[in-house]
Amino acid sequence: MQTNTIKEGKAKKFHWDGVSDSCELEFKNTLTALNGQKTEELEGKGVLAANISAKLFEFLNEQNLKTHFIKKSSDNTLVVQPLTMIPLEIVVRNYAAGSLCTRLGFKEGEKLKKPLIQFHLKDDALNDPLLAESEILYLEIVSLEQLNQIKNYALCVNWLLTTLFEQVKIGLADFKLEFGFDKAGNLLLGDELSPDNMRLWDNFDSNQKLDKDRFRQNLGHILENYQIVLERIYLALAKKDIQTPAVPLKIRLYIKPQAGLLDPTGRTLTDSSNRLGFTEVEAIKAGKMLELELNDYRLNLIEDLCERILVSPAIEEYSYEIVV
Ligand code: TMP
Repeated sequence: MQTNTIKEGKAKKFHWDGVSDSCELEFKNTLTALNGQKTEELEGKGVLAANISAKLFEFLNEQNLKTHFIKKSSDNTLVVQPLTMIPLEIVVRNYAAGSLCTRLGFKEGEKLKKPLIQFHLKDDALNDPLLAESEILYLEIVSLEQLNQIKNYALCVNWLLTTLFEQVKIGLADFKLEFGFDKAGNLLLGDELSPDNMRLWDNFDSNQKLDKDRFRQNLGHILENYQIVLERIYLALAKKDIQTPAVPLKIRLYIKPQAGLLDPTGRTLTDSSNRLGFTEVEAIKAGKMLELELNDYRLNLIEDLCERILVSPAIEEYSYEIVV
């Protein structure tokens, strides 16, 4: 593949010829913090970040969670699918750290009651501001349905990575994800998954940092700690089993007749309302909402269950949200 560098970010370079179904993501040795104000070149960091990302993406792909990762192509490059990236950074937090402490006064290391999802606009000139969901919809960055899908994905990734790291006594305090669409319009997880964009604590202890906070806070021994992460991932993957979550996953499933198909219940409710004097009622559409509790967070399992048992795909459509 003849490649051109079409985008260079702070920590990665993206090479693509503009037409192929695959492109290359090169991991640089650059470490950056404070939106690029603090930077350092660290020989070997790119290779570690590429290896960790490759292993984590491969693991997610095996769990049927769609990511852009295809294969590793050299020490510090991955072959990935080209995506049209969504200009959002999705942060998922399990423990208080970083900006949650500086913005809201949480104590670092505090376990959160439930995972917290936050969004940032990817815009260096604006300093990647935090975005409310209403702002995401107002700016039409994604639709409500896509936003819901992104949140479901992020929670599924959180569960899979948390359980993977728990097996080797590492706490996944928080991480940042980026998503994009492939040329068929499918939502895929993109970017990287490495200690550059996740907080990992040995023994679940915020004083034993294994991630880029070592650079942010001048703690040193960055490569040694990234190496520990990689070795533990190998160990965790060798165990192979994903444990059942302690708390079942709650899903709200919304089912409604497909647009344009007959909706006798909705029609009857509309007619009765009009007959009883509620002439303001133009239309009522009837659907149903099911609440499910599952002991597995895999999205393909939820989708399989819907398509094979709970929903009649020929006449109904569905959407679901993971309740946190
Ligand atoms: P924060 O505490 O600075 O908001 O970061 C939360 C997590 O998300 C942390 O693991 C670092 C990661 N992150 C990035 O990798 N890039 C970003 O631009 C942001 C805002 C967060």
